[in-house]
Amino acid sequence: MVYRIQMVVGKIKTLILGAGGMLGMELSKVFPDAIKFTRSEIDITDEDHVHLTIEKIRPEVVVNAAAYTNVDGCEDDKDLAFDVNGKALEYIARSCYSAGATLIHYSTDYVFDGSKKEYFESDKTNPINVYGQSKLRGEKNIIENMKDYRIIRTSWLFGLQGKNFVETMLRLSKEVDTVKVVNDQFGKPTYAVDLAQKTSEIIKLTPGIYHITNDGICSWYEFAKAIIGNVASCSTYEFPRKAERPKYSVLVNTKTESMRHWKEALKAYMEERSK
Ligand SMILES: NC(=O)c1ccc[n+]([C@@H]2O[C@H](COP(=O)([O-])OP(=O)(O)OC[C@H]3O[C@@H](n4cnc5c(N)ncnc54)[C@H](OP(=O)(O)O)[C@@H]3O)[C@@H](O)[C@H]2O)c1
Repeated sequence: MVYRIQMVVGKIKTLILGAGGMLGMELSKVFPDAIKFTRSEIDITDEDHVHLTIEKIRPEVVVNAAAYTNVDGCEDDKDLAFDVNGKALEYIARSCYSAGATLIHYSTDYVFDGSKKEYFESDKTNPINVYGQSKLRGEKNIIENMKDYRIIRTSWLFGLQGKNFVETMLRLSKEVDTVKVVNDQFGKPTYAVDLAQKTSEIIKLTPGIYHITNDGICSWYEFAKAIIGNVASCSTYEFPRKAERPKYSVLVNTKTESMRHWKEALKAYMEERSK
């Protein structure tokens, strides 16, 4: 089944932006025939370059995995966050619209404030940090400028390439006696490999917003406990960060088949990284 989907997508002229990132690298494997651009090849904040590239290639599908993802860094550099995560989506959406391309874009659980225990695709957004605000601006810029889009909100991404929570835990567990991790923020860890694979299905679904994560809910502490042994729980109050995080950022997927449990995905990740 998975093979069949890849074959169908393989025939669609696809362009990937942000191909050098954690998700971008996995997307590049799922769409081996896609035309791929890393940040050094296309800066998505360069309106003319984005427009000319999409106009010249005329892809049927544009997958945008480029983003400024440093949540605390966004608090320090609001302009950069809004340029990359917000304004650039206006350029990409307009270019896709004029080229007749479908746009697949990724957004975040951080568009919600975390005051509810779970969030449906249609729920009211209310981001509490600059990263979430800039990503929400990006969503709005897409919706205002084109129709054929899929905005995929995901959460707590871990993948084989790049920095992620799993690697941070593995590193810290060697550096300190006990790693303290917050036990009062809840979400759904998501394996970039699974999300990239699921993207190939979502391309064929109707335009709109999708919530795509692995199954299962946990706190950061519970996630850490599944990775390392020397971990202790603490509260957000004991471990303040520059950007406020939502207490609950549990995305509910009401539109597609759910993906495997995050524990199963984590097992696959651990096996893959040790190869
Ligand atoms: N990571 C998570 O936990 C998480 C959670 C929810 C949603 N998401 C969303 O999922 C998507 C993929 O995230 P990810 O974890 O794969 O992020 P990532 O590893 O940080 O990858 C993002 C890529 O975008 C590139 N980039 C940054 N600014 C750019 C620009 N101006 N023009 C072109 N490329 C630029 C980065 O290049 P440099 O590395 O050179 O800066 C990097 O290669 C993003 O939309 C993100 O908001 C992520």
